[in-house]
Amino acid sequence: MKRVISDIHNCNVVEMEKNHNPAGNITVYQNGTSQPFDVKRVYYLYDVPGGSERGGHAHMELHQLIVAASGSFDVILDDGRNKKIIQLNRPYFGLLVVPGIWREIVNFSSGAICLVLASEKYNPHDYLRDHDEFLKWKSLK
Ligand code: TYD
Repeated sequence: MKRVISDIHNCNVVEMEKNHNPAGNITVYQNGTSQPFDVKRVYYLYDVPGGSERGGHAHMELHQLIVAASGSFDVILDDGRNKKIIQLNRPYFGLLVVPGIWREIVNFSSGAICLVLASEKYNPHDYLRDHDEFLKWKSLK
């Protein structure tokens, strides 16, 4: 199992190109052109009840770009030593979450859509779902 040395400073908001159009804007993410990785999977969270918390887990290999396609929410990032909270509220900003970061998504606005672009297909074995297990994997416990 490959251990990734990463911290919250490796997780940044990237601004994607926005094509202005009076009839509605377009933002495109295209493999081979868009950074920071090629996308193998897209999923989105929607109809999230107020007060729900999603995504209390970390990934060992997966890179993700999290986008508030509609509405807003907060992403809590935790590298085992430090935490930071990023509010996402624009569809042309993406938060890069690298492997080895515990993340939770909270404070969904009504009707929010959390779009996730992922570097790998779904793999249940890539998840760390227990925070203690995460800290041990990071050699912090
Ligand atoms: P999960 O990643 O646990 O959601 P969250 O941590 O945001 O609460 O996924 C919820 C369920 O959806 C779980 O049963 C696995 C399934 N799932 C897939 O089948 N494919 C996927 O790509 C994802 C992200 C989840």
